[in-house]
Amino acid sequence: MKGIILAGGSGSRLHPLTKVTNKHLLPVYDKPMIYYPIQTLVNAGIREIMIVTGGNNAGDFLRLLGDGRAFGLSHLDYTYQEQAGGIAEALALAENFADQEKIVLMLGDNVIEGNIKDAVHDFEKQKVGAKILLSEVENPKAYGIAEIRDGRIAGIEEKPEHPKSNHAVIGIYMYDERVFDIVKTLIPSGRGELEITDVNNVYIRSEEMTFEILEGWWGDAGESIDYLLKVNNLVAKDGANKMKLSSEGA
Ligand code: DAU
Repeated sequence: MKGIILAGGSGSRLHPLTKVTNKHLLPVYDKPMIYYPIQTLVNAGIREIMIVTGGNNAGDFLRLLGDGRAFGLSHLDYTYQEQAGGIAEALALAENFADQEKIVLMLGDNVIEGNIKDAVHDFEKQKVGAKILLSEVENPKAYGIAEIRDGRIAGIEEKPEHPKSNHAVIGIYMYDERVFDIVKTLIPSGRGELEITDVNNVYIRSEEMTFEILEGWWGDAGESIDYLLKVNNLVAKDGANKMKLSSEGA
């Protein structure tokens, strides 16, 4: 399976920290934010990864990450998103890279404590469709929120005013090769973006969406300054030792 990490967007919720740099280059404890999603995919056994970025600092990713050697990789792919047109729009840029294979999409501002190896393995065995991971949150209005009925996901609402649960859809999504055709059918949401929640609801309606509850903590470091601080503290407390880079002699 191939991995795609999104590191574009405007980062406006973290102004002024992101006025002159990209959010995913900001520190999370002792490493740039983008290191964590890369390590998460590498820990899950994924070796072919594309970074989608945009804005004025795109070149900094190449200088920082190069060919991915720090993660034990021999190569990284990059592409450029002209405007922050949404997560699904950014994903569409990776269609050629995916080349009809199943993919794992990870948002570059998401940090998790644990390992998604088992979920990825389960999805490799899943014949068709998609898989998402859920985590319970205290502020459900800030995320895509899943309603679970009879052990299945009945639907997802993006940043709902009246959340039907506190099960947030975290920023790790697994899709079959049809995802790129689904993106082509989307229309921009009220905030002018192609929404990943709309993609997920297509798979839910055709009863091809599976889910798992994530073990360990999860943080969206791009949600607000407070969450950036919270994720920094979580990593400092019990996550930092788990990320040992190849260049450090793992
Ligand atoms: O973190 C999980 C949440 O991420 C989900 O629960 C939501 O359903 C999902 O919509 C998303 O919500 P956010 O409001 O947090 O998305 P954000 O705009 O912060 O973008 C998430 C990541 O995707 C971030 O790392 C930047 C990247 N991105 C975003 C946009 C809009 C791009 O690369 N290009 C884009 O055009």
